[in-house]
Amino acid sequence: MDNHQDNQSRSSLHGQWSSRFTFILAVTGSAIGLGNIWKFPYIAGENGGGAFVLIYLICIFVIGFPIMVSEIMLGRRGRRNPITSMKILGQEEQGNEAWKYVGLIGLMAGFIILSYYSVIAGWTLHYFKLSIFGELSNLNNDRAQSVFGELTGSAVTQLIYHTIFMAITISIIAKGIKDGLERAVKLMMPGLLFILIILLLYSIFQGDFMAGVNFLLKPDFSKITSQSVLAAMGQAFFTLSLGMGCIVMYGAYLPKDESIIGTTTAIIFCDTAIALLAGLVIFPIVFQFGLKPTDGPGLIFLTLPLAFNEIAGGYVFAGLFFILLAFAAITSALSLLEPSVAWMIENKNYSRGKSAIIIGFSIWILGFLSIFSFNILSEFTFWKGTLFDNFDYLASNIMLPLSGLLFTIFASWVMRKDHSTEELSDVSSSIYKLWRFSARYIAPIGVILVFLNAIGII
Ligand code: PFF
Repeated sequence: MDNHQDNQSRSSLHGQWSSRFTFILAVTGSAIGLGNIWKFPYIAGENGGGAFVLIYLICIFVIGFPIMVSEIMLGRRGRRNPITSMKILGQEEQGNEAWKYVGLIGLMAGFIILSYYSVIAGWTLHYFKLSIFGELSNLNNDRAQSVFGELTGSAVTQLIYHTIFMAITISIIAKGIKDGLERAVKLMMPGLLFILIILLLYSIFQGDFMAGVNFLLKPDFSKITSQSVLAAMGQAFFTLSLGMGCIVMYGAYLPKDESIIGTTTAIIFCDTAIALLAGLVIFPIVFQFGLKPTDGPGLIFLTLPLAFNEIAGGYVFAGLFFILLAFAAITSALSLLEPSVAWMIENKNYSRGKSAIIIGFSIWILGFLSIFSFNILSEFTFWKGTLFDNFDYLASNIMLPLSGLLFTIFASWVMRKDHSTEELSDVSSSIYKLWRFSARYIAPIGVILVFLNAIGII
């Protein structure tokens, strides 16, 4: 059998998406998450706003786009978990199985990310509880700070919510693609958009909207350092869920006749729009209440409760917002867990339920270290700060770009041209050429330059 036939006859072991729409929804669900609403505003805030946003947008389009196309392509040809897909494809294209290590770096990054992602998602569940019990009423700036401080100071509270969040994620993944993943994203994604739009209206009418817009969109290049360029690139990878293998994994469930470029365009558009929207909700409120955009990971937990406090019935909105944020986090967490679970099912022959529990449990344990970073281990700092800071830096700024780079090099340099042409056969040859050029040269050179720049070589 030649390679071509091999690929045609290979089908996913875990089923396929029921439609193109559910695939887009699932990948958008993976992409849109805490990265857009929690991380993007605070990183933009810490890195001076406008100029950072501009570099971030450049990274999304110039680096993120070709890499996402490459990852979906690899998944759809491999039809397995990212490690096995890369092993099969490496063997087929080059007779070299070592490409599986690229999948492995991705899976490890996913493991690390989910361990702290779940902790932050737990914060949103806690804030949901506070809102519906009216504990966020009569807030002022100081009280908002102390509510947040009480949460991060308590390992027990964070542990409870981290546990709840991981349990939800594991139970959905245990149900499989159609009954678990698809159902969850169909339910959770539309509501999030609706609430964000309501909040945007609030921000326009009640916040210092122009100050927010200026901060977010007016570039001040004096604020840019090599570290902020690296942060922008790391954020582009994080927000698009690249370099982790989850897009490769979701691509494995994509039917053969769906357009990869078309779906990627839709996904990237939605993800970017939501991040900008979140910024336009948060910063006008930050400036209206005299808060600092540089507040770090606590930013949305300090600003939004204050804003809600000012509206009649605001606690309802607050409750809705935090639960929807938790939904957005769940749809992303699913994509962080699925690749390792699929790997275990395929390689150890365990059931889906058992695999989800074993992997989920290990991630849950690792999460303790992030929880402790905010309290008992807060003084334990090295390299980039606390353990939490280091996990995030290592996974987002190093591991994701590194494996994303290798995925794209494989798709554009190693994979035979007729194979990639076959995967992108629905687009014109000029669009194909544009993808291949960006994937071969622009994205890799971009990633390498940012790396070199960040470590001070250029
Ligand atoms: N893209 C998600 C977010 O923006 O919240 C987070 C994420 C999911 C990162 C999946 C990486 C990943 F593979």
